[in-house]
Parts: sequence; C-alpha cells; structure tokens
Amino acid sequence: MTLRHFESILVTGGCGFIGANFIRYLFECAGYEGRVVNVDKLTYAGNPENLAGLSEGFGDRYRFVQADICDAAAMAEVFARWKVDAVCHFAAESHVDRSIVGPDAFVRTNVNGTFALLEAARRHRAHLVLFHHVSTDEVFGSLGPAGYFTEATPYDPSSPYSASKAASDHLVRAYGRTYGLPVTVSNCSNNYGPYQFPEKLIPLMILNAVEGKPLPVYGDGGNVRDWLFVTDHCQAIWAVMQTGRIGETYNIGGRSERNNLQVVETLCDLIDRRCGSLDAPRQRLITFVTDRPGHDRRYAIDCTKIERELGWHPAVTFEEGLAQTIDWYLANTAWTRRVRSGAYRQWIDQQYGQASGARGMTP
Ligand code: NAD
Ligand code: DAU
Repeated sequence: MTLRHFESILVTGGCGFIGANFIRYLFECAGYEGRVVNVDKLTYAGNPENLAGLSEGFGDRYRFVQADICDAAAMAEVFARWKVDAVCHFAAESHVDRSIVGPDAFVRTNVNGTFALLEAARRHRAHLVLFHHVSTDEVFGSLGPAGYFTEATPYDPSSPYSASKAASDHLVRAYGRTYGLPVTVSNCSNNYGPYQFPEKLIPLMILNAVEGKPLPVYGDGGNVRDWLFVTDHCQAIWAVMQTGRIGETYNIGGRSERNNLQVVETLCDLIDRRCGSLDAPRQRLITFVTDRPGHDRRYAIDCTKIERELGWHPAVTFEEGLAQTIDWYLANTAWTRRVRSGAYRQWIDQQYGQASGARGMTP
C-alpha cells in the first residue's frame, strides 16, 4: 500500500480533545516529519494547554493560529502562507446537550464553518493532496437493540449537533464529487481519554465521583454507546489519511458497547479501588435525572471496512482505556482545576492577548 506524503497538515480544532490528542499522536507516535498548523478559535472547549510543551519540542514544525474557520479570508491566508497540502478537520461545536440549549453556534461552526473551509480548500486545490473530515456516528440516528451502523446506513440525525454534522458530511462529499476535491470522511463512535472536557459523560463522572458529588444519569441509564479510546481514533484517522480511498467514508468504532449505567458503575468501582470508598461505595452517588430530549437509544459501529481495507483495529480495551483515563485525571489535577474553574481562559489571554481576529500568522 502506498502511503500519502504530507509536508504541511492543517489541523482545525487542534486545541480540543481529539484534535490535541491527534497532534500529539502525529509528532510523538506516528513519526510524522512535516509541519502541523493548528487553527483553533479557542471556544470554551479549546485549551492550548492540551498541547503544552509541543512548540518547544518541535519548534517550527508546530504552528498555532487562533482563527475562526468561518473567517474565509483567514482560512485563505492559512492555506497560502503555510503551503497546506492536507487538512484534518476537527473543529466543531461537539456537545449534544449544548446544541439542544443553543443550536445557533452549531449551525454556524459545523455547517457554515465547514463550508468556508471547503471553499478555501477548493481555491487552493492545486496544492492539496487530501481533505479529511472528522465526523460522528450520531449522523445515523438511533439503533434498536440489534444491528450496526455501516457506511451505507441512511442519515437520520436526532439532535441539532448531529444534524449540523450530517450537513457538513454532505458538503464535504459534494465538494469531492462536484469540484474533484480529494476528500475522505470518517464517522466515529464515542471517544474517551486524556484532555476530554469534563462536560462529557466519562470525565464528568470521574471528577464528580472523586469528589463525592452526585452522578447524574439521564433517563433509565439504558442508552448504549460504543466506546473508543482516543488514541485508537487518532490511529484510525491517520490510517485513512495515509491510505484511505479518495471519496470514501470509513466508520470507526471500538466494538465496545456499554450502557451508561454500566459505564458509571464501573467508574465508581475503579475509583473506589484507587481512592478508597468515601463513607460508602460511590455507586450510591448515582442519581437518575430527566432524560435528554431526543436521546438516541443505541449506537454501535460496524468497522469491518476500515479493518479489512486499511488493517486498522482498536487496540485498547474498554477496561484498559478506562483505567488509563481515570489515572490521567487523578494525576492531572492542576489541568482539571484550571478547566473547571475557568482559569484556563485567563491562561489563554496571557499567552495570546485579548485582541480578536486571527493571531499567530507571523511565521
Ligand atoms: P471539542 O469540543 O473537545 O473540541 C472542538 C475544538 O474546535 C475546540 O478546540 C474549539 O475551540 C474548536 N472550535 C470550535 N469552533 C471553532 C471555530 N468556529 N473555528 C475554529 N475552531 C473552533 O471536540 P472533540 O470532542 O475533540 O471533537 C472533535 C471532532 O470530532 C468534532 O468534529 C466532533 O464532531 C468529532 N467527533 C467527536 C467524538 C467524541 O466522542 N468526542 C466522536 C466522533 C466524532
Ligand atoms: O457518538 C459520538 C458522539 O459522542 C460525538 O459525536 C459527540 O461529539 C460526543 O459528545 C458524544 O456524544 P454523546 O451525546 O453520546 O456524549 P455524552 O458524553 O454527552 O453522553 C454520553 C451518554 O451519556 C449519552 O447517552 C448521554 C449520557 N449522559 C451524559 C451526561 C453528560 C448522562 O447520562 N449523564 C450526563 O451527565
């Protein structure tokens, strides 16, 4: 299999959870020798501290540009100035609950932002080897007790988040078919691991359980997700970028279905073992709360295509991944304290100043 060669990868949303893990993976595990330009607006979910140490270690090969992907002029400048030959597009509003309360930002970034990025990529088409779009299994809607999402499953999104991601997937594929942009798309299941913002189920429950706070489980806790450790996702994306067929979509999943109650109970037991149970086992903190509107019942990915075509397989079991994740949150209390208190925003302002607009463009 011939590997694609990239010299300058534009990663959008690289200060978020998966983007930061992906940039670390490229430099620290994948042996990537080119440049990464990380374009991130630094919303509440973007934290440059997730990449602390990289600019020292990799010097000119890592560049950060604070910019909004909706800013067409800034995107055009990034493509030209940094001679971008590949894009890995993570930037998005990613949290379903927030999309229910305020869908506007989701349509703006996930739909209009992806459109602006695609337009910039199209104008830069002659130099572009690949545009990879990172998407979600939520575009497929909800499964019953049996069956799996394949690449051929029709789209049926339930939340404003998943609808906006579905729209972005369609735009990316349309740019491939209409303008010949060399695109690939991946649709992945639920990720967990280091640097995940503690609004998502696993880090939220870890931090609350450690502190003996209530653990809010939506509905009856029977909703099922297919969990994947974040480095396995990074490896899968890199496999698609290097060897995936242009114009194709690849489903990525962990073959690791658990319902939410099982996840939270397991976390409680693991934390009891590490931190000692408080006055009683932490499972007593589980509190059933009002369900999320439009809550998809079950997600499960059939990842046969990427396994067969690209030889990728999930490497980390759910038990190993969960243990590693708990250990990471227990060892990185300064990070969690700053994120939860909002102090990381001050850190950003000290590092990058408070002026608006694209920053960090000077080579
Ligand atoms: P995240 O919320 O942790 O990070 C998103 C990043 O995008 C942040 O750094 C944020 O500052 C940046 N961003 C947001 N709006 C922007 C804009 N307008 N311009 C530039 N940057 C902007 O998200 P995540 O969990 O790391 O997810 C990354 C991608 O992976 C998303 O596209 C998401 O849909 C997809 N995905 C996530 C999961 C998961 O379980 N977390 C699973 C499958 C797919
Ligand atoms: O499937 C991939 C998707 O996974 C990604 O596209 C999204 O960006 C990512 O946020 C995630 O979406 P979910 O809605 O599945 O993740 P979340 O962590 O918000 O919730 C996981 C499950 O846990 C879901 O069934 C809702 C439930 N939940 C969540 C929270 C935050 C609770 O029961 N209690 C909670 O407090």
